[in-house]
Amino acid sequence: SKSHIDDTVWQLLLELAESRQASALRDAMFAGAATNTSEQRQVMHWLLRKPDTADLPPHLLPAWQEMDATRRRFLDFAEAIRANPDITDIVNIGIGGSDLGPCMAVQALQAHAHTGKRFHFISNIDGHVLQQTLQQLNARNTLFIVSSKSFSTLETMHNARAALEWFRQQTAHTSADVAAHFVGITTNTAAAASLGVHTTFGFWDWVGGRYSLWSAIGLPLAIAIGAQGFEQLLAGAHAVDRHFVQAAPDKNLPLLLGLLQVWESSLLRYTSRCMAPYLSSLQRLPAYLQQLEMESNGKSMTRYGQAVHWHTTPALWGEPGTNSQHAFFQQIRQGTHITPVEFIAVRQARHPWHQHHVLLLANALAQAQALMQGYDHANPHQRIAGNRPSTFFVLPELTPRTLGALLAVYEHRTFVSGAVWDINSFDQWGVEQGKVMALDIASRWQNADTTGLDASTAHLLRKLCQ
Ligand code: F6P
Repeated sequence: SKSHIDDTVWQLLLELAESRQASALRDAMFAGAATNTSEQRQVMHWLLRKPDTADLPPHLLPAWQEMDATRRRFLDFAEAIRANPDITDIVNIGIGGSDLGPCMAVQALQAHAHTGKRFHFISNIDGHVLQQTLQQLNARNTLFIVSSKSFSTLETMHNARAALEWFRQQTAHTSADVAAHFVGITTNTAAAASLGVHTTFGFWDWVGGRYSLWSAIGLPLAIAIGAQGFEQLLAGAHAVDRHFVQAAPDKNLPLLLGLLQVWESSLLRYTSRCMAPYLSSLQRLPAYLQQLEMESNGKSMTRYGQAVHWHTTPALWGEPGTNSQHAFFQQIRQGTHITPVEFIAVRQARHPWHQHHVLLLANALAQAQALMQGYDHANPHQRIAGNRPSTFFVLPELTPRTLGALLAVYEHRTFVSGAVWDINSFDQWGVEQGKVMALDIASRWQNADTTGLDASTAHLLRKLCQ
C-alpha cells in the first residue's frame, strides 16, 4: 500500500516475470537442474530444509539421504555440546556466508538460546578481533568451529591456524586435544584434515555460501537453540519453499517482492534500499542481506555473458529502529534521493516492559506513515513532501520458525529479481578476482615491489609497508 505501484504495473510486472521464465527457472531449481550455469552447479539450498522425501524427484533421493544423515549427525553433536557443561564458549571462525548467517541468527534468537554458553564470531583478517576474543577464553572450555565451504579462504585459514597454535600452547601440559575442541564445516574435508581438524561435518557444492545457514554451517545456531529449535527454523523456511512453488502469482510473496525490487531498481532507478528492523536482536540482518542480495545480484552480465541494459540490485543498508531514526531518517524523509525503506516489526515482545514495545511499534508505524503522507507546514524547513515508498513486514513474534520463513522469503525474492534481470544469482566472480589481487599485493610486501603497479597503488604500497 505504500509503494509507487498500481494494479496496471503489477500486471505488467507479472507478465515480465513470465516472459523471463521466472517460474520455469524456479521449477528447474527445485528439480535439481544445474541453474548456476557459470559454475555448472545445482542450486539446492532448499533441499537442506526438506524434512522428508515427499514430492522429491527420485534422482535427488541420494542427495537428500546424505544430507539427512549429516543433518542428524550435526544436530546430535549440537545436543552433546549443549549438554556438556565443560564447554562454555563457542567460537565460529569463518567469513561471508560461513559467518553472517550463524552470527545474525544466534543474535536474533538469543531469547531462545542456551543460557550457559557464550558465542563468539571471528571473521576478519584484522588480528585485533582474534586477540580480543582469545583473551576472554579458557582453551579447555572452548569449542572452535572452523567454517569454510572451500577451506581455502585466506581470512579463515589464517585465523584457524592462529587459533590452533594458541590452543596447543594453552593446553601443552594437559590432556585436552584438538580433536575434541576443533570441528570443521566444509565441502573440502581433506583440506580440513590437512590442517589438523579431523572432526568434520560436510556440505555440498550445490549450497552457495550465502545460502548455507541451513546446513552444518548453522552449527553455532543449533548449539544455541537446540536441535528442535533448528528444525523449527528449517520448517519455517520449508513452508516458504512450498508457498513459493505453489502459490498463485498474484499471492506469491517472494515473487511480488522480487518484482517490486525490479520495478524500484530498474524502472524507477532508486539506487538503494534501507532495511529498518524494529528489533535490536535483528542488528546483523542488514549485513546478512547485503551478502544475500548484493553478492547474488550485484552483476552487470546476463547469464549468457552479455552486458545488461538495466540497473540490477541496488545498495542495501540499514540499522534497527528506533536508533536509525536518530541517525539517517532525516535524509530518507527530506533528502533529495528516494530510498525505499523496509520495516520489520515483531508484534510480540519477550521482555516485561509493555510500554517500551508499544512505543517501538508505534515509531515504526509512524515512520512509514510519515514517509507516505508527508507533513505540510508554513515553514519550508519543517515541510516533508511525503510520497516516499516503504514496505512493512509484520512477524507475530521472532521465533526460529518465523526467522526461517523470513530468510527464505528473502532468498526467493532475490532469486526472482535475478531471474527477471536475466543474471546468474549464484556465482560471485567479482569477489573471486578481488581475492587474487589481494594475494598479489601481499606477495610484494616484503620488498615493496611496485613493478607494474599503477602510480596510486604503488604510492600507497610504499607508504603502508615502510
Ligand atoms: O566473499 C566471497 C565468498 O566466496 C562468499 O561467497 C563466501 O560465503 C565467503 O567467500 C567464504 O567462503 P568459504 O566459506 O569458502 O570460506
